[in-house]
Parts: sequence; C-alpha cells; structure tokens
Amino acid sequence: MHLKLKGSPLIALVGFMGCGKSTAGRLLAERLGWQFVDLDEEIERRTGRAVPEIFEQEGEAQFRQLEHEAFVEQQRLARQGRARVVAMGGGAFVESRNRDQLEVTGLSIWLDCPLDELWLRVAKESHRPLARRREDFDRLYQQRLPHYRLADFTVAASDAPPRVVEAILKLPLF
Ligand code: S3P
Repeated sequence: MHLKLKGSPLIALVGFMGCGKSTAGRLLAERLGWQFVDLDEEIERRTGRAVPEIFEQEGEAQFRQLEHEAFVEQQRLARQGRARVVAMGGGAFVESRNRDQLEVTGLSIWLDCPLDELWLRVAKESHRPLARRREDFDRLYQQRLPHYRLADFTVAASDAPPRVVEAILKLPLF
C-alpha cells in the first residue's frame, strides 16, 4: 500500500466542478470495498440543509468552514482504519487547511478534465452556486488549476467514469 495510505486509508478525489469526482468515487469505492463519501452530501446530512441554501443564507466562508469540519471528521474515521473514498467539492482542495490535513492523512487524486468539457457537463444542471455564468466559471478554473496540480496523483478524466476508475486502480497506490 502507498506510504501515505498506511493505517489511514483515505483517497480524496479532487478537481473542478463536473470532473466526475462523485461518479468515479462511488465506482472506485465499490471496486475497493471501501466506504464512499460525497463531501457535499455529508455537509447536507450534517446540517440538514442543501449546499445552495447554505451559500445563500450564510455565505461561502461559512460553507468552507462546514466543509472543513466534515472533512476533518472523514480523516478521523480513516485514522481508525475505516477505509474511505471521499469526493471533495471543487473548492475543498483549494483550501490550504484541507490540503495540510491530507499531508497527514490520506492521499489526493486530481481528476483533470478540459474546461470546455466541464462546462458542458455542469451547464446541464442548475444546483451549483459557482457555476451560473461561463465567464466566472472560467476565471475560477484558472485560479484553481495551480492548487489542483498539488495533488499526489493526476488522472485524465474526460473518459467515461469506469475508465477513469481503471486508470486510478493502475496508480501505485495499493
Ligand atoms: C464548489 C463545488 C461543489 C460544491 C459547492 C462549491 C466549488 O461541488 O462543493 O457548490 O467551490 O467548486 P462539486 O465540485 O462536487 O460540484
């Protein structure tokens, strides 16, 4: 097993909105027999509120705090040996406090997908507060790229999710 996974089995899938973290994460967890956690869903479960509602009523800073707390909890469970794949929201890995935590527990895989493809995927859905205008979406993507490049591994994610998972399973993680 990869050094960073020893005793604390947590794989964090990171990357921009629409890169397929949740779909690939679910499949990956199934293949590994690990638990799957979608961090956004976990925040919604913990707060009893939807992500757009939190953004609207309390602002992004409060959402980031809730996201951080939910992530810390996932790491605590991983340290108990409860293996998990965590699909992080697109902004979670941009926060240095979450990246710092990942240095200690777990490893990160960036699902790298071209911007045009990302927009095509998210434009079909309406629930993301930070994906309403193409211009803002592009700017945010450019700002975040240097952060995503800090992930432990990168996998091309324009393929269908099962192929993305195959690529992950070929990484020197296990
Ligand atoms: C966000 C991405 C969303 C969600 C929230 C903020 C972001 O998750 O956490 O809307 O800052 O990129 P997905 O990446 O799963 O869409």
